[in-house]
Amino acid sequence: PSLQRFNTFGLDESADEVWVLQDEEDIRALASDESAMSRLKLILGGGSNLLLTGPIKGVVAHIALRGKKVLSETDDEVILEVAAGENWHQTVLWTIEQGYGGLENLSLIPGQVGTAPVQNIGAYGVELKDHFVSLDGISLENGEKRTFSKEDCQFGYRDSIFKHELKGNFIITAVRFNLTKRNHALRTDYGAIQGELEKRGIDKPTIADISAAVIAIRQSKLPDPMEIGNSGSFFKNPVVPTSEFDRIKSEYPEVVAYPAGEGKMKLAAGWLIEKAGWKGYRRGDAGVHERQALVLVNYGEARGREVYQLAKDIIADIREKFGIELSPEVNVL
Ligand code: EPU
Repeated sequence: PSLQRFNTFGLDESADEVWVLQDEEDIRALASDESAMSRLKLILGGGSNLLLTGPIKGVVAHIALRGKKVLSETDDEVILEVAAGENWHQTVLWTIEQGYGGLENLSLIPGQVGTAPVQNIGAYGVELKDHFVSLDGISLENGEKRTFSKEDCQFGYRDSIFKHELKGNFIITAVRFNLTKRNHALRTDYGAIQGELEKRGIDKPTIADISAAVIAIRQSKLPDPMEIGNSGSFFKNPVVPTSEFDRIKSEYPEVVAYPAGEGKMKLAAGWLIEKAGWKGYRRGDAGVHERQALVLVNYGEARGREVYQLAKDIIADIREKFGIELSPEVNVL
């Protein structure tokens, strides 16, 4: 079957076999099926962080577990449990409707709830880990269920244990969040949010106001995957020693970067790519988005390997022009 509707790049690559996992029983059935397990190539959530560069000769497992419930609450807080197959943005909107604060800055991020912890999704000053309590998953090695605390997950910038030790042999089934019912800790310090709220004449924002501002900002800069295939930021913002930053700054005083811990700076990769002249570049149906250079797009019929070639050309050019090594944020398969 075609994987086109399972990846937000909209790439029409096929897999030999697709397993749709709707509950824990489906996961255990897969874990105990030796033939399927030996051919398992990919575990897929919303397919929003994935570049398929060819057909998958093997089994793809798609996570489709649904449901959400409040596990406990006080006057101030609520612990919410959400199944891995729920759509991320719909979940965020639902929390805002309930008046639960915490996830509003993470509005409109594509993908599913179960894949959000894998790369510790983040935007506008908030990361998933800030409101994370724990998650459950099932090992594909022995079918056993395991709970991971925040510490167990080893969250970092777009990173967690599920990208390393546990890659490919563990299926996240549910995620628990800690959200506020009042005295919300609003994060509006990020410049773009401030600007958007001012534009709307809002000086005491609610969580719904912040969500609406984030949605407006993202829609103005990021292409809607339903219209133009993409996976959000294609590259990570590189974290470099301050000396490297100083070297670039001496040549380009306008370089954009943020402090990233002792002696380190995080460079805006979008700035580097735009400065190198790639913004809006198009080669066939593969391209660099016109309004956000960090996002690669499929205008319709691009093949994954064409997008990948473009990415490699950008990486080589940034290396040559700035001496900086970009690395993909998406999984290239
Ligand atoms: N910039 C440019 N040209 C561009 C893009 C960016 O010069 O084409 C410069 C601008 O100065 C801009 C700065 O880079 O102010 C930062 O850009 P932006 O605020 O758009 O954020 P980003 O660093 O490009 C990161 C995340 C996004 C997240 C935004 C907002 C990564 C890899 N990306 O992008 O996450 O939404 O911050 O917090 O960390 C994603 O991961 O898929 C994603 C979209």
